Amino acid sequence: MATASWNRHHVLSLADFTPTEFNTVLQTANSFREVLTRRTKKVPTLQARVVANLFFESSTRTRNSFELAAKRLSADILNFAPGTSALSKGETILDTAKTFWAMGADFMVIRHREAGVPQAIAAEMDRLGGQVGILNAGDGWHEHPSQGLLDLFTLCTPLDPEQPRLELLAGKKIAIVGDILHSRVARSNLWSLRASGAEVHLAGPPTLLPLEFANYGAKLHWQIEPALAEADFVMTLRLQKERMGQHLIPSLREYHLQFGITRDRLRLCKPDVKVLHPGPVNRGVEISSDLMDDPALSLIPQQVTNGVAVRMALLYLMGSGRV
Ligand code: CP
Repeated sequence: MATASWNRHHVLSLADFTPTEFNTVLQTANSFREVLTRRTKKVPTLQARVVANLFFESSTRTRNSFELAAKRLSADILNFAPGTSALSKGETILDTAKTFWAMGADFMVIRHREAGVPQAIAAEMDRLGGQVGILNAGDGWHEHPSQGLLDLFTLCTPLDPEQPRLELLAGKKIAIVGDILHSRVARSNLWSLRASGAEVHLAGPPTLLPLEFANYGAKLHWQIEPALAEADFVMTLRLQKERMGQHLIPSLREYHLQFGITRDRLRLCKPDVKVLHPGPVNRGVEISSDLMDDPALSLIPQQVTNGVAVRMALLYLMGSGRV
């Protein structure tokens, strides 16, 4: 396993990841991908370490794959359920985190609907001695770094399954389509794809694709066709209705007609195009249901599978060298 090029204590954002760090995660995840095909899928790396999953916002994929990743590394896992926690008695988020710190948590995996909460907890943990590594599992619209890394791994592995690496994406055209405005996944992906040298095209209605995204080095399209033309990969994003305070699209039906990914639309792309979606999916809205389930075109199940190996890699790298 590669650890020599890893000094990162927290994983809060991909904005300052170096190409070497991206490649270290890809290589390490690939080793764990192999471990996960074995009969015995567990390694003793994090024995007696404690991973606390602090999800203040709902999750299926991220929470469970961090839990499985921790278990595969032989760590002890604490799952926090906000609805039945002392938050309902007025305890603050920082005091909740300090409670897990006092129990001896080595890692905290934090999801919150507000941007900046994982960063605030990381600062508090550093103030308390720096023994706890914080992983941002999605903060508001800001970032979702482990999703960005598993997407990167899922894009690179079909290109070279033995040695997935950032450079494989140089010059590839990647279209990201949908609710870019509210998407922490799009923001994390933009950092990794920019580092790879991929050509990134963003498409969505003007209300969901603000001009500021051009600052990330992406090309912006308010129509889908130029984004899909000759694309190597298409990433669709969920319409985040829960974050839409006002009517940003005329209707779901209209959105699907204009921006939904369908077999017909994929004919604009390269013949071997593959489609990704971070989930959860609004079937028949951002992607047609039959396309989502087509193993020849959809990498969505692979994204979920790869999430475990990538999160094992992050816990392993952050845990290496710490006792
Ligand atoms: N992709 C993602 O973050 O999914 P969950 O909300 O289910 O964790």
